[in-house]
Amino acid sequence: MKYAFSLKEKNADVCVLPFWEGALPAFDLSNFASFVRPLVDSGDFKGKSGETIFLYPEGFASKRLLLLGLGKKNSVTVESLRRSYAAALRACQSVHAKLVNLFSLDGGSLSKQEVLQGIWEGFLLSNYVFNSFKKETLESTFSLIDEVHFIGFDESLEPALKTAQIVAESVYFTRDLVNGNADEVIPQKLAETAKSLMKLSPRIQTVVHDKAWLEKQKMGLILAVNRASSVDPYLIEVSYQGNPNSKEHIVLVGKGVTYDTGGLSLKTTDGMLTMKCDMAGAAAVLGAIRAASLLNLKVNITGVIPSVENCIGPLSYKLGDVYTSYSGRTVEINNTDAEGRLILADALSYAVKHLNPTMMIDLATLTGSVVMSLGEHIAGFCANQDALADRLMEASKRTSELLWRFPLHTEYKEAFKSDIADMTNSGGREAGCIKGALFLEDFVGQLPWAHVDIAGTAYWSKPKYYYPTRATGYGVRLLIDLLKQLVIHE
Ligand code: BES
Ligand code: MN
Ligand code: ZN
Repeated sequence: MKYAFSLKEKNADVCVLPFWEGALPAFDLSNFASFVRPLVDSGDFKGKSGETIFLYPEGFASKRLLLLGLGKKNSVTVESLRRSYAAALRACQSVHAKLVNLFSLDGGSLSKQEVLQGIWEGFLLSNYVFNSFKKETLESTFSLIDEVHFIGFDESLEPALKTAQIVAESVYFTRDLVNGNADEVIPQKLAETAKSLMKLSPRIQTVVHDKAWLEKQKMGLILAVNRASSVDPYLIEVSYQGNPNSKEHIVLVGKGVTYDTGGLSLKTTDGMLTMKCDMAGAAAVLGAIRAASLLNLKVNITGVIPSVENCIGPLSYKLGDVYTSYSGRTVEINNTDAEGRLILADALSYAVKHLNPTMMIDLATLTGSVVMSLGEHIAGFCANQDALADRLMEASKRTSELLWRFPLHTEYKEAFKSDIADMTNSGGREAGCIKGALFLEDFVGQLPWAHVDIAGTAYWSKPKYYYPTRATGYGVRLLIDLLKQLVIHE
């Protein structure tokens, strides 16, 4: 979406006019009073958050006026603006608008920068369609907005627009990877995508480790999960050196199961239906590194992505068998559907041993249990350090990529006791998010680490606010906000 600043109203397909609840104009109404008054006086338009109504005035430069409700002025937030402007964008799309005018507004308690951020992020994050499968979209009758004119805004805020755009495009990048067919987005495709990031910046280096390497390294868990698959597994390493003088090194680990059938512990039809999303952690890590590099953030990050397909077939890894991890710990498989923690375990211990991380965060669509606890809007996380947990909560508040912390309750480790191996891989479904984290903790050791379970937030069953249906791109904005905080506090 292109943008420009201008002082005056220009010919557009839609000109968006914002109102607070009670139909109180949030902008300078004077030029529009005669067109808008009758509607406002009628009481038909109340200015409730996300309320929209079109007017077609005669003798006016733009084709349409869109009255947009922002809700109550005294409770406005960046997020409430995102949501209201997401509604405006949908209305604009419904009339196939290409060029839209947006007016500056008095945001009450919000700063000018926050107002612009809320408006622009709401617009950007909604202006997305996954354009591969529907005949209608293939023929591109689906309408995306091409251009926005910001009228009356402070032009010195332009850098903030650019930043938000880079982040939103990285969110699209992540959504596209998750929405793609599982038959196409296989481990090799994730590896190629990671390599293609090198074109963006000389500070990005991608190394792809293939199956022969995994065998040589004895990454027994990644290899076990992948056994029944007809495609090869990979361990992908993407590093972005944004601050070569610093020893700080943040490792982001993303679960990259490109399809999860459950293996011999086969999922049901309904359970399997959404399992192309099981690489959303990997996609979010790649999206965050993409954004960090384009924003030139002064941080050193390495993304580590174990990528496999969890299939069923004669070569499936077996329940009751014991497999040896890269760390040397042995794992008795009591559920082949708890595959995510297995591949993450090898990736985490590899990172600890070879990458000298000062902090580690993993993102994974790990458990159905977190969806039961928190639904699709909120991701669950565990952390072994309060400072890191607090920063994540801060990032969550600012981005509205919601998070809730669960305790790393060590006593639940009992659930992983095995008679014949060092541990089992599933401790049952109760407190699933916590148990997933406890399993992983054994492969992390002492360094500051957080595990974010995005099983609910990565892939939505229906569209809402500025999220389209299916892939949400959850995690990209959260991670970028966190990285920025770390830059400031270093
Ligand atoms: N990929 C699934 C988790 C999942 C569920 C992601 C729903 C997105 C939506 C994961 O591999 C899995 O199957 N987890 C098991 C763990 C259990 C066996 C301990 C689960 O949640 O049932
Ligand atoms: Mn599974
Ligand atoms: Zn899975």
